[in-house]
Amino acid sequence: MAIADKQHQNFLSKTLEQAVILPVLVIERVEDAIPLAEALLEGGCTSVEVTLRSEAALASMEKISAHLPELTLGAGTLLECEQFQQVKDAGASYALSPGTTEKLALAAIDSNLAYVPAAATPSEVLELRELGFKIQKLFPAGASGGIEMLKSLSSPIADVRFCPTGGVSTANVQDYLQQPNVICVGGSWLAPKDLVAEKNWSAITKVVQKSMAAVR
Ligand code: 3PG
Repeated sequence: MAIADKQHQNFLSKTLEQAVILPVLVIERVEDAIPLAEALLEGGCTSVEVTLRSEAALASMEKISAHLPELTLGAGTLLECEQFQQVKDAGASYALSPGTTEKLALAAIDSNLAYVPAAATPSEVLELRELGFKIQKLFPAGASGGIEMLKSLSSPIADVRFCPTGGVSTANVQDYLQQPNVICVGGSWLAPKDLVAEKNWSAITKVVQKSMAAVR
């Protein structure tokens, strides 16, 4: 049976532990990719998730991976098997998806790209665990039970750590990060749409600094 690569799991463990907070980005204009990534970097981010939710996503990944190697680039919202190779070619160091099918998990293993699959129920967590994925996204975190869900999972499934995403904000980020089975948290609140539209990069740096200060 195909199984997730141990080195990839170690890489994800280090990358996400260091990141603490992972911005989930929808980049609509390629020209925004570098200034947005620089603003996040300046605020203290060490990794970003660029989602495949816009036409500009792959080109934005290429720009960030080529120009900002100090930022570990994650590719998010992978819904199709062939996307693993596409994001790898665009320079992503790892991939994430909002949910996982067996096909997707096997495609990730096949593509030899580190992968954070997502689960929202104990059975899904266990299926991914059987494939060797010990780091998973909990999505949608808030809607699937949030902190109570993480607390409930921590005792029976003690060796899986989560990146809760979906409904995380400045209001609850500290509570999420206090859970021992949370490796990092992800979310779009770090790059608010209106600030990106206005190209207000310094305001985005401040949003990140504020969240980083709250969790340190
Ligand atoms: C994701 O893909 O992880 C979510 O869209 C992020 O959810 P949020 O917008 O509630 O942070």
